[in-house]
Amino acid sequence: MDKRKITFIGGGNMGRALVSGLIGSGYPKDLITVADQDSDKLKRLEAELGVNVTTDNTSAASQASVLVLAVKPQVIADMLKTLTSGLGGIGDRLIISMAAGVTINRIKELTGGHDRIVRLMPNTPALIGKGVTGMFASSSVSADEKEFADSILKAVGQRVWVEKEEDMNTVTAASGSSPAYFFLFMQYMIEHSIELGLTPEQAYTLVTQSALGAAELAVRSPGVSLETLRAQVTSKGGTTHAAVTAFEEKNLKNAVDEAMDACIRRAKEMEKLF
Ligand SMILES: NC(=O)c1ccc[n+]([C@@H]2O[C@H](COP(=O)([O-])OP(=O)(O)OC[C@H]3O[C@@H](n4cnc5c(N)ncnc54)[C@H](OP(=O)(O)O)[C@@H]3O)[C@@H](O)[C@H]2O)c1
Repeated sequence: MDKRKITFIGGGNMGRALVSGLIGSGYPKDLITVADQDSDKLKRLEAELGVNVTTDNTSAASQASVLVLAVKPQVIADMLKTLTSGLGGIGDRLIISMAAGVTINRIKELTGGHDRIVRLMPNTPALIGKGVTGMFASSSVSADEKEFADSILKAVGQRVWVEKEEDMNTVTAASGSSPAYFFLFMQYMIEHSIELGLTPEQAYTLVTQSALGAAELAVRSPGVSLETLRAQVTSKGGTTHAAVTAFEEKNLKNAVDEAMDACIRRAKEMEKLF
């Protein structure tokens, strides 16, 4: 990876995960600055990760060629307007934004027409380096810049680039929000296992390890469809068959489709809010 000065605006969950991943992958600490309004958070980041920290977004951004926006979508408009006027324009910096629901056009509007923008949709497993990030670049972003943005996100997991910005809403439904679906599914399984007599520890281990193992088996079986993997544990008339049939009778597919569609509808509404 080539090395550029990066300023993170926002050192919360996601900003911290990225910074920590980058340092873990050998990125020089002195090239990373985190700007945040919370000075206690900054002190912890400085002590634990050894990066430069400041409460002054503009001075941090002025020294960097890459700006990673890791603040909540609700604050992005005010933050970007202030930053753009403080800097006298974004100049030739690359903006990488992870703000959910904030479009490239909106960022362009808030930065006086700046158009070198990469939009991200990470997910929380990034906190342990196991994330997956959907990525989209505006047409003015060079191949080098895309590669650089990709290398930053590589520090916290896999990347999937999409060609159309509207696909970022589907990415939100498929990966940004989806850890919560799996948590919910595991929670229900654990709760019912306990109702049926297992201890919480037994239930937690059995369910979470099954989820982990199933995901890993799928990932490590390229070319083998999920249907085939399922068929391998589903003999006709057996126990798994009984469970899968019960899911199908309750129209699980419909529930999943509706949940993802609701996620996308909300993502589209959020695009109008921020
Ligand atoms: N978490 C996820 O699963 C997920 C997934 C995909 C995308 N994202 C996106 O990632 C972004 C960051 O999310 P997060 O969970 O990391 O949020 P977070 O933990 O709240 O971190 C944001 C940080 O930015 C600080 N901040 C707020 N306004 C600021 C300003 N004007 N200048 C500098 N710092 C400011 C906040 O301080 P205060 O705490 O004092 O407000 C906080 O420390 C969001 O845009 C979100 O949409 C998150």
